[in-house]
Amino acid sequence: MKVTILQGSARKKGNTARVLTWVEAELENLGHKVDGIYLHPLNLKGCMGCGKCKEKTDTIGCIQKDDVPGVLEKMIDSQLVIFSSPLYFWGFSAQIKAVIDRTYSLYTNANMPDHASLVDGQRQALIATGAGGYDQNAEGMVDGFGRMQKYHKAINAGTLFINSCTTPDALDESVRQKAVEFARKIVS
Ligand SMILES: Cc1cc2nc3c(=O)[nH]c(=O)nc-3n(C[C@H](O)[C@H](O)[C@H](O)COP(=O)(O)O)c2cc1C
Repeated sequence: MKVTILQGSARKKGNTARVLTWVEAELENLGHKVDGIYLHPLNLKGCMGCGKCKEKTDTIGCIQKDDVPGVLEKMIDSQLVIFSSPLYFWGFSAQIKAVIDRTYSLYTNANMPDHASLVDGQRQALIATGAGGYDQNAEGMVDGFGRMQKYHKAINAGTLFINSCTTPDALDESVRQKAVEFARKIVS
């Protein structure tokens, strides 16, 4: 499988990145081709809500000229996309939220008989890390992610939330094991 990982934390060596290294290593071990995109240095504008993208069913159609269309092209070319983010104020980091909002340009006629999507049938997974627990903290993010697949006509391959994060070095063998098991699950 062609896999794209959207690294949504600014911290290149932070908690999210550490979990991703374990997931990526296992995916490669299983023979998958993994391409990671570190979003933070890219020029990522938010969606303008202009609706121009809805005029085209067969291309992205977004009129903004930043780095997001390139990220979306890589997504379209993948069988599995892993979205990742630190939990920021009960939601996604600004970097990955910009990309998520711009995936509005990947589909047309949502909830209509002619609903079309450029990522129809794609597997999508979420990996998030947070300082707190899951309850009353991460549900909103996970819930929102789960609703996105309906619009993308994609398959929710799974969610991994690593709670109680402090520093990457404190992420122990039990977390590594969760990451490895998650990698196996999202491709099967
Ligand atoms: C701006 C900001 C907001 C945060 N909001 C939350 C939050 O709502 N819930 C939570 O559990 N942790 C929160 N955290 C902690 C981070 O999610 C946590 O440290 C995460 O593992 C950082 O990931 P990183 O090392 O990949 O950047 C926040 C941290 C920052 C800097």
